Amino acid sequence: MTKPFNAKKIAENVYWVGAIDWQLADFHGYKTERGTTYNAFLITGEKVTLIDTVKRPYMEEMLSRISSIVDPEKIDVIISNHAELDHTGCLPEMIKLANPEKVYASPMGVKAIQDLFHGNVTAEAVPDKGTIDLGDFHITCLETRMIHWPDSMFSYLNERQLLFSQDAFGMHLATAKLFADENCPDLLKRESDKYFANIVLPYAKMVGATLTKFKALNLPVAMIAPDHGPVWRTQEDIQKVLSWYDNYVAQPFTKKVVIIYDTMWGSTQRLASAFAEGVEAEGCVPRVICLKSTDRSEVMRELMHAGALAVGSCTMNNGIFPTVADCFTYIKGLKPQNILGAIFGSYGWNLMAFDELKAYFEKAGIPLVLPNVQAKMIPDEEKLLEAYESGRTLAKELLAKIN
Ligand code: FEO
Repeated sequence: MTKPFNAKKIAENVYWVGAIDWQLADFHGYKTERGTTYNAFLITGEKVTLIDTVKRPYMEEMLSRISSIVDPEKIDVIISNHAELDHTGCLPEMIKLANPEKVYASPMGVKAIQDLFHGNVTAEAVPDKGTIDLGDFHITCLETRMIHWPDSMFSYLNERQLLFSQDAFGMHLATAKLFADENCPDLLKRESDKYFANIVLPYAKMVGATLTKFKALNLPVAMIAPDHGPVWRTQEDIQKVLSWYDNYVAQPFTKKVVIIYDTMWGSTQRLASAFAEGVEAEGCVPRVICLKSTDRSEVMRELMHAGALAVGSCTMNNGIFPTVADCFTYIKGLKPQNILGAIFGSYGWNLMAFDELKAYFEKAGIPLVLPNVQAKMIPDEEKLLEAYESGRTLAKELLAKIN
């Protein structure tokens, strides 16, 4: 009799035993409208080895998939590539159930697991570039700090040329199609971009250094198995996702100008539209986003590939509009690089909160290009022309950076 929740083979003696979360809508502030997967993998060699676990509520699903191959109590080794709870949420229960000979993590991972579980889980540290001997299989481990936490590491299964990359090269995408080449390429690009922009972007420089370190090992890679989303198994796909990461790390200036705004009575909206016309007139590409209808995580996906950010706010209670503050707080933390900035907005009886907006730009490290525009009440033709010219000025500055 067939049953649901079986393991899926990804290579000889290697199985996907993770879980699909079709309903995840928010991942610590990042809107995940397409859900996600928590990938765990099982190696059925002399030592039955589990790579990562899943988020706590999905433990039964993982156990069912493991059981379709081997009794979970027969797991000899658990390797924890990343301590965040979407991968270690059921680690204590798995250790209790399987009583494995060894639990391995990076040196920082050992500390993170101790802190998370208050000393109730102990693991053995694998040194950077160290090898775990599983008898017929060998795993080379590489510290990959800040992809995504300080504890993160890659595990490379030498005999299958298979890289277990935890958060790196992953995406929040719930799909029954396990392999990348079975999914829509445009969707993969979009979700990979969104994942990096919202999760890993502040650490982009460290990601670049880590990937350089990994490439210097000259390990052939036949497959990349991340902890979220599909597994990359063709050389074309592997090279593609590696090149995406090169671009994420570099964040070159582009002609795209992201214009975010919110408005109460339409004044700031009109300024945004005029600003966009000016950007377009100079040959750049405006992407106008009203924060009433678009989530901050989508703004980040757009911004990662942009060359400029213009922020428009109406004035409310002497301050900037709450949606603008929310979005800019988020942007500031994710620290996009190679971005120019501009401000516009409207006010009624108190002057616009320019200083508040400027402070956000300063903290985000985004230099402002002047002039900036502020309109009292409803912008007249002169103010709309000012916004248009401001858009042109920003675009010209941006083109000077690109050329
Ligand atoms: Fe998928 Fe950083 O956890």
